[in-house]
Amino acid sequence: CGIFGIVFAERPRRPLGEILRRSLERLEYRGYDSAGVAVVDRGLVVRKDAGKVAEVASRHGFDALQGVAGLAHTRWATHGAPNQINAHPHTDCRGVLAVVHNGIIENYAELREELAKRGHIFRTETDTEVFVHLVEEYKRQGLDTFSAFKKALARIKGAYAIALIDAENPQVIYFARNLSPLIIGVGDGFNIVASDIPTVLDHTRRVIAIKDGEYGYITPTKVYIELDGLLQDAASRIEEIPWSAEMATKGGYPHFMLKEIYEQPESLAFTVAGLEPAQLEAVANAVLSARNVYLVGAGTSYHAGLTLAYLLPRLRITAIPIISSEYAIYENLFDRDDVAIVVSQSGETIDTIKAARAMREKGVRVVAVTNVVGSTLSRESDATIYTRAGPEIGVAATKTFTTQVLTLGALYVTALSLLGYDVSQHVDEMKKVPDLARKTIENTAGTAKDLARRLRNRPSAYYLGRGAALPVAMEGALKLKEVAYIHAEAYSAGESKHGPIALVEPGFPTLFVFSDPQTREKTLSNVAEMKARGALTIGTVPAKSDYAKKLDVAIEVPEMGDVFAPIIHVIPLQMLAYFAAVERGYDPDKPRNLAKTVTVE
Ligand code: G6P
Repeated sequence: CGIFGIVFAERPRRPLGEILRRSLERLEYRGYDSAGVAVVDRGLVVRKDAGKVAEVASRHGFDALQGVAGLAHTRWATHGAPNQINAHPHTDCRGVLAVVHNGIIENYAELREELAKRGHIFRTETDTEVFVHLVEEYKRQGLDTFSAFKKALARIKGAYAIALIDAENPQVIYFARNLSPLIIGVGDGFNIVASDIPTVLDHTRRVIAIKDGEYGYITPTKVYIELDGLLQDAASRIEEIPWSAEMATKGGYPHFMLKEIYEQPESLAFTVAGLEPAQLEAVANAVLSARNVYLVGAGTSYHAGLTLAYLLPRLRITAIPIISSEYAIYENLFDRDDVAIVVSQSGETIDTIKAARAMREKGVRVVAVTNVVGSTLSRESDATIYTRAGPEIGVAATKTFTTQVLTLGALYVTALSLLGYDVSQHVDEMKKVPDLARKTIENTAGTAKDLARRLRNRPSAYYLGRGAALPVAMEGALKLKEVAYIHAEAYSAGESKHGPIALVEPGFPTLFVFSDPQTREKTLSNVAEMKARGALTIGTVPAKSDYAKKLDVAIEVPEMGDVFAPIIHVIPLQMLAYFAAVERGYDPDKPRNLAKTVTVE
């Protein structure tokens, strides 16, 4: 879910409702099954409904709402169906308090029972509603709003980012964070609480990252955070964010996903420029002397970690790729001689944060690779290497994946050089990656579009690769599934004859990734096997090579060594998924059932 709250010293020039509606558009990527706002002017007004932001906002006239303080919420349902009643904000019995929440209140059932006995009437199926009733209950017992808010916080268990307003105390927004992301935007005559940084960039670039377990309140001019029972003015924690609001909008493209695919040359160049050699050396040294190296991540970030996991054994390093939510399998291995490279675009994926915490507890040195400065993961790691992709709005990761692969590749190359290898060719290639990415986008967009048309009505496809090409195949298949809703299965090409080939019949799309120079020849024999069964064979192949002739459809990309080739080979696969989604009439920015950042286990 996404939350936003803003409080002004006086009625803003643009109606408050319009400001809230715009924030919801920014937050829609965090959840989009329902949306709602609450504004305080003379009293509390709540408008909410199931549906996309634009529909709900126009149906309920958000833009005309006036007020000095307001909350907004986009929902990604966990407890309770996406409908009008369950949409946030939620209110108390008297209709003076309103709350928005991202996360899960685990003990809501018992709290609800307790409150119901005290006469509270619950209208929704959500876990969130208990919170606002708790605050109401404590206010009723004589506490002021902040004290009631704190007491309510002490009662709830789980993950949350919460914002609350009280019509009886209209120029304050109370907030709290535990696990779910929350930041403060500091303005001139107003302050903001929000789930993420891009959402506040329309208003300000000055932010404060709220840490886990922190709570406090904002007024139009002050930010207070309570630490060890002491309420403190948080002005000294303000950071300046380098992203512009323009960077966070679509910039002329029909969808964020396409925009972000096209931004890759720039993101890669920024990431190369931002690499700090001394830091990379320190981490590479740790990797070289580690007993085990864990590559941890979820979704696309897991695939990025895999690209390094497939390279490290070449240096006689034991690399263990771990899907964040599965870390417990390896828990008995974790030890102080180990290093974990934990990859997360947002730095807020709960499964990944939990894995990192479990590792650190056992003394594993945790190095985060993330795109978000000040994210939870970065704050909880021993070191952080930042990718510099800029904000990614499309739910399906694109530019953050390629910048992650680049960063991990740079780490590998640093390790190689520490071992005394001549890495000049790798370094050269790394510097060329942004330009080659640009050429790849330009040269393969047409083929990807044609291919998307051919795959349009296909129910299923295989993505095959050997060795270091397999993570690329996995990422390509994930993209097609995520945005085009075509079943896509990635498999080791060598293993495909042990099962997947049984499904192959004339026309079955089978996509081969030729990014790994060491495994290309063997991959060709798998192409032949598939072709013999009538498959439509497609491949990402180095330009001007003979591989193209062996395939029905060849997507030619610049030749590149094994370390950075995944970046170049995944680009046409991202575009294929994007165009297939559009061909099939789906909105690639908002794939059903998915969220950009999954902050629930
Ligand atoms: C969600 C997103 C994916 C992303 C994954 C991990 O599933 O939809 O695009 O790869 O989370 O997110 P992270 O922020 O940890 O990289």
